[in-house]
Amino acid sequence: MSVDLSTNYLGMRLKNPLVASAGPLTGNLDAVRSLEESGISAIVMPSLFEEQIEHEESQIQRIYQYQADSYAESLSYFPATDNYSKGPQEYLDALEATKRAISIPVIASLNGHTFGGWTRYASMLENAGADALELNVYFVPTECGMDAFDVEQRYVDLVASVKQAISIPLAVKIGSQFSSIPNIAYRLMTVGAEGLVLFNRFLEPELDLQTLAMVPDLVLSQRTEMRLPLRWIAILRDQLQCSLAASSGIHHATDVLRVLLVGADAAMITTVLLKKGPRYVATLLEELQALLIEKEYQSVEQLKGSMSLANCPDPSTLERGNYMKALTSYSSDYWFP
Ligand SMILES: Cc1cc2nc3c(=O)[nH]c(=O)nc-3n(C[C@H](O)[C@H](O)[C@H](O)COP(=O)(O)O)c2cc1C
Repeated sequence: MSVDLSTNYLGMRLKNPLVASAGPLTGNLDAVRSLEESGISAIVMPSLFEEQIEHEESQIQRIYQYQADSYAESLSYFPATDNYSKGPQEYLDALEATKRAISIPVIASLNGHTFGGWTRYASMLENAGADALELNVYFVPTECGMDAFDVEQRYVDLVASVKQAISIPLAVKIGSQFSSIPNIAYRLMTVGAEGLVLFNRFLEPELDLQTLAMVPDLVLSQRTEMRLPLRWIAILRDQLQCSLAASSGIHHATDVLRVLLVGADAAMITTVLLKKGPRYVATLLEELQALLIEKEYQSVEQLKGSMSLANCPDPSTLERGNYMKALTSYSSDYWFP
């Protein structure tokens, strides 16, 4: 006996809900082949960053400037581009190579935060063969004068402009730090997001006491972090007519089952793949099958959303009541009065 694991995400029929989210593995051809062989249903490529595009354009400007100011006779006179990072053309080449290497859907990823010319790369990614696009808006407002409306309008404008440029499905990956997640989620959907990826992990820098410098420090996710997408997908599922993907802290098959029950259409994984390797997908899928058989589900579609807010026996546990209950029911083996 086997359970039908297929799911609909962004209008695409995926053979199961496990998607490899953007990360180092999805940018490596051997790893993506191995992910496909192990059963992953789709991959999200690492992001092409606004900064990479802007950087390339400033280099091109420098080249033209140099040409105008000199007796340029051949390309060899052009100033060498520095080694900041891969350029957008290499990204497009990598996307084409990935599409040739595997047959599951390949979702390209654009990552930025300002409204500008870089967003035209959305259509180039579509032309290079992307099956869908994930737009990761990673914005850290730092000025007291910028209010919540300005911040959210920036997201809305960005999503609308990217959506206008493409005909493939668009998912938007956002962080969890909004005054009203349901409201921004709804607004993004109404301007064209066919899916939301919840959530982006904002990475906090560390203060290095030796150098007194703020340094980037990527800490991989903990399992408990999946409670954040778990709660919000449960709350959003019945209110939004778009795909929802859970991202952050999904490490076990039981975590995949949990996010599906609250209404996720896909469960995205990066940390667990980095820790255990691409072949671990096969183990996760076997465990998911076994869990669903044990709980007598026939298909993923059947169980999806059966524990969303509207179907939850005690909705207060997803709302404010959860806080009071958690505080008053606390007990511990540690020191406790
Ligand atoms: C090393 C590394 C690189 C990542 N690169 C990207 C990226 O390019 N674009 C993006 O949207 N997310 C990126 N992410 C975030 C992941 O896609 C994912 O959302 C996050 O790690 C949470 O999922 P997890 O708990 O399964 O790791 C990266 C994560 C890691 C650990």
